[in-house]
Amino acid sequence: MAWNLDYWKPLNENIMVKLEFLKKIAFLILCVSVLIGCKSKSENGVNLSEINKSEMGLKDYYSDCFIMGVAVAPNSIKGKSAELIKKEFNSITPENVMKMGPIHPEKNSFYWKDADAIAEFAKANDLKMRGHALVWHQQTGGWIFNDETGGEVSKEELLIRMKTHIDSVVSRYKGTIYAWDVVNEAISDDSTEFLRNSEWYDIAGEDFIVKAFEYAREANPDAKLYYNDYNAVNPEKRDRIYKLLKMLVEKNVPIDGVGIQGHWSIFGPTEEELRKALDMYSSLGLDIQITELDVSIYPWEKENRELKPGESDEFTPELEQKQIEAYDMFFRVFRDYKDVLTSVTFWNVTDQYSWLDTYPVAGRKNYPLLFDEDFNRKKAYEKIVEFSIQTETKFPK
Ligand code: GLA
Repeated sequence: MAWNLDYWKPLNENIMVKLEFLKKIAFLILCVSVLIGCKSKSENGVNLSEINKSEMGLKDYYSDCFIMGVAVAPNSIKGKSAELIKKEFNSITPENVMKMGPIHPEKNSFYWKDADAIAEFAKANDLKMRGHALVWHQQTGGWIFNDETGGEVSKEELLIRMKTHIDSVVSRYKGTIYAWDVVNEAISDDSTEFLRNSEWYDIAGEDFIVKAFEYAREANPDAKLYYNDYNAVNPEKRDRIYKLLKMLVEKNVPIDGVGIQGHWSIFGPTEEELRKALDMYSSLGLDIQITELDVSIYPWEKENRELKPGESDEFTPELEQKQIEAYDMFFRVFRDYKDVLTSVTFWNVTDQYSWLDTYPVAGRKNYPLLFDEDFNRKKAYEKIVEFSIQTETKFPK
């Protein structure tokens, strides 16, 4: 019997239409379930994107921008703090132990133990390391300026001692330290003066700056050499720092960059001041690093003073919001300048300890960092990494 194809045709078409319809429904169900799957909780109840976020650290969010560093002490490279540092940062700076007083306490003796431990920590964990600081007017140990009878040394003798210091310290950490703060804070706090009237300046004049850079370059030709200072974004001081840097560049002094310390607050600097300073310093062809960032919740004060009666040190929601906004603005500008800004280093790890808890007011707690007293990420942290989460998701390197 021959099949009457014409008879079957309508039925056939009907089935085909139905099958197409079912296929479309199945495809839709598949799409919806895939979409829901990305946003839904994984088996252990954690959002998938949350897993990526918790695996990432500041160094990962900012891997296309600049190095993310932190100042450390022998205590902070242990335990919970060490874990946080390894997860969040890719660079460290010793807070105190490489300053002249601690590392070279007497003319003929060095104390390497703490500095070595920090250098070992950097090497073992593949972290970059900044050296801080070769020549500064504070924490010098004092001996460097005095002869055996207690009198002031000659300029020649001071430069010989300075050379010995720089040679010894820079050579020891060759291969580990990629950048040195060679001269720290040489500009005067008095706006009517140029250079600070320190013992360095008093004995050796401005040659102490030039020689420090020359000795550092000789000791390690591969290290990047920086001049480092505070209030470097404040227009008045900025202009004097710029003048010094310009002089050094024009004299072919071996300087590679400028360190803007970044001890700032929720009250300043302004975005305009920050951009202007970055424009001016980079116009000299110098690399820029933010070397000591913290954002105080109090206005800037230079002189030490006692806590005033009734003075509060509570981290209120209003102060927290202002700090989020300040951090947001600073990092937005930093990202805009990523071609000339090569590193941002925070001064201390978490709000559990900051040098600002005792300076300028002893006993007044400050909350200047991105991690709270329990080592948790603050809202300011979430704010400054938002740009990266929105644009792309990267996994830790
Ligand atoms: C200056 C120095 C740092 C440190 C801070 C305060 O910024 O450069 O080494 O002493 O003061 O902690």
